[in-house]
Amino acid sequence: MRIEIFGAGALGSLMGALLLKAGFDVIFVARGKQFEALKRKLKVSGIMNEEFDIYVTDKAEDADFVFLTVKAYDTENAAKSLSKVRFKAICSLQNGVGNEEILMEYFDNVVGGITTYGANLKEYGHVVFAGEGEVFLGDFKGNYAEKFKEILREANIKAEVVDDIRRRIWVKAAINAVINPLTAICRVKNGKILERDLWFIAERIGKECEEILSLLGYDADVVNAVKEVAIKTSENRSSMLQDIERGKRTEIDFINGAFVKQARKFGINAIYNEIMFKLIRGIELGMG
Ligand code: PAF
Repeated sequence: MRIEIFGAGALGSLMGALLLKAGFDVIFVARGKQFEALKRKLKVSGIMNEEFDIYVTDKAEDADFVFLTVKAYDTENAAKSLSKVRFKAICSLQNGVGNEEILMEYFDNVVGGITTYGANLKEYGHVVFAGEGEVFLGDFKGNYAEKFKEILREANIKAEVVDDIRRRIWVKAAINAVINPLTAICRVKNGKILERDLWFIAERIGKECEEILSLLGYDADVVNAVKEVAIKTSENRSSMLQDIERGKRTEIDFINGAFVKQARKFGINAIYNEIMFKLIRGIELGMG
C-alpha cells in the first residue's frame, strides 16, 4: 500500500519512518533544505535510533492514502498540488483550525486528525522522536477515518476514531494559542509558561479561548489542559518558537488568528489573543 506523507517536516518524517518500518511503501514529499537532506537519508533519534534510505520527492504523486503534515498556511497550495494526482483519501495531522475545511473544497474523502506525538527537527534530515502520544481521527467528508486508524495502528502508532474531532481540533488550537505565542515571544521552553509572570498572561489567554469555545458550543477547561501539556512537555521548544528561531513564518493565523476571527463574529472582545496575534505578526515582520 502506497502512503504519501505530504510535508515531511518533523512530524511527517516521524510518521513516515514508523510506517516504513511497518512495511508500507512510503512517499515522502518535502521542499528546500529538508528535501535535499532527505535525499541522503532520514535519521530518527530519541525514542528510536535509526537511519532510513527513503523515497523522497518535491511533488505530489499518486498514492493510496495521503497524510497531510504541512504548515497550515500551506494547506491550500498542498491541496492544489494534490488535486492533480490520484489517491483515495487524505488525512490532516496539522496544527490549527480550518485545514479540513480547505481540503473539503478539493477532495471527497477528508479525515481530520490531531496528534500529541512529540517530534522535533534537530537539523534538516534528522528528526528527534521526543514523545509517544496518540492520534485522534474523525471523518469530515466521506468515511475513511477507520481506514487511517488501521494504517496507523499497523505501524504501532496509537490511534482512535472519535466522534468529536471538531471539538478536539479547537481545544488543541486553544492549548497552542496559549503556549505557542508566549514561548515564541519570550524564547522559552514550554515549562516556563507556568512561572508567575508568564502564567498571569497564560491564564488570561486560556480563559478567553474557553469563552470563545463555549460560544462555539464546546465545553473545555483550557487553563487546566494548558497546565497539563506544559508540565508534560516542559522541556520542549514549541513549534512556533522553532519557526521563529529558524526565521520561518508561523501558524499564528490558524491558531490565535482563528480565535480572534470567531470573537469578532460573536461580537466579543478577545484582547489577549489579539495581542499575541499582533506581536507574533510583528516578529514575523522583523524577519523580513
Ligand atoms: O505546537 C507545539 O509545539 C505543540 O503542539 C505543543 C503541544 C505546544 C507542545 O510543544
